[in-house]
Amino acid sequence: MERDKKRRVTRSQSATKGMSDAVAAQKRPGPLGSSILRPLQRCSSVMCHRGHTALVAPCTDLKHETPNSQSYSVATPRHIPVLLNEILALLCVKPEGIYIDCTIGEGGHSEAILNVVHPKGFLIGIDCDKSVLEITERRLGKFAGSFKLVHDNFLNITDICSRLNIKAVDGIIFDVGISSYQIDNPERGFSFNKDGPLDMRMDRSSNLTAQSLINNLSYDELVEIFFKYGEERYSKRIASRIITERKKKLIQTTGELVTIIKKAIPLKRYRIHPGTRVFQALRIAVNNELKNLTQAITHGFSLLKKEGRMVIMSFHSLEDRIAKNKFREFKMNEQAKIITKKPLTPTEEEIDRNVRSRSAKLRVVEKTQ
Ligand SMILES: C[S@@+](CC[C@H](N)C(=O)[O-])C[C@H]1O[C@@H](n2cnc3c(N)ncnc32)[C@H](O)[C@@H]1O
Repeated sequence: MERDKKRRVTRSQSATKGMSDAVAAQKRPGPLGSSILRPLQRCSSVMCHRGHTALVAPCTDLKHETPNSQSYSVATPRHIPVLLNEILALLCVKPEGIYIDCTIGEGGHSEAILNVVHPKGFLIGIDCDKSVLEITERRLGKFAGSFKLVHDNFLNITDICSRLNIKAVDGIIFDVGISSYQIDNPERGFSFNKDGPLDMRMDRSSNLTAQSLINNLSYDELVEIFFKYGEERYSKRIASRIITERKKKLIQTTGELVTIIKKAIPLKRYRIHPGTRVFQALRIAVNNELKNLTQAITHGFSLLKKEGRMVIMSFHSLEDRIAKNKFREFKMNEQAKIITKKPLTPTEEEIDRNVRSRSAKLRVVEKTQ
């Protein structure tokens, strides 16, 4: 435990190296250390390096609960936006700017952006999960006229912008992964801790579910998915056990899959939940996450204005690698400069407040021509 704490401290210390001073200053404990939003009249200001002022401060009226709290209600946002102040400052949000939140979810980051851009600027919020957009629409109602929510895959970012007659934007954010809204609902099948149908679709209008992959893929295909997307070292054993079990009966629930995984592997070797890697792998495969992200970064980058910025926050190494490599490619082509030499990670304080932020990595690039 002591070692874990030490590692976290080192991580957040090293993270500040790639940041502007304005952002680093926010990492010190204090009112701006909170990642939750406060109503505009009580805002504090944070200067970004170009001198624009972002209005951000902790929230008092939106009651965010901790992920383990029993008192969630559908009307209350479940997802706590991660690295909120850092993202706002690094995006260099300006009042008349146009921004795209490619993964708007319950709108935590977008609400903070809209606090700055409303009523002069504009925000497009994309999410492939239609049900969450109803909540977001209500949450952002006070900014009516300054935003447009779009139910679509961010892969279609170019078409979305051309439909809205938007040719170029000042900033784009990707907060990839699942939201608390999704993982806390057992019906969605994302959680290995809660029994539910083996679904894992972010976009429930799509046909491919985790159940269909688990019950129909060949042994080799299962091994490949678990290994490639989950970096699971017992991929073969798990795939083999799945093949045996599905001959007896259709595998339909997350609970059944967890039981199968536990039977297939030497449990003592696991420091994390034994389902972690397989569930991650299935989720990536069901939602085609890596390919979508890779292509969307390219499309999104061409929509950026000169000096426009793209922020990518990821929660596992495969996605972070994609962001890193794409940004390097833009730099090599002399189209961009990389703002975060090393990925930014949450402070110990943020992790204590929101444990789900612990694996976040944030990278930022700026278009130079
Ligand atoms: C981590 S949550 C975003 C949370 C949000 N930033 C907030 O503060 O509330 C990620 C969201 O991205 C959405 N998403 C993931 N992949 C997507 C894709 N390819 N296209 C559109 N939305 C996607 C998910 O449905 C989810 O709602």
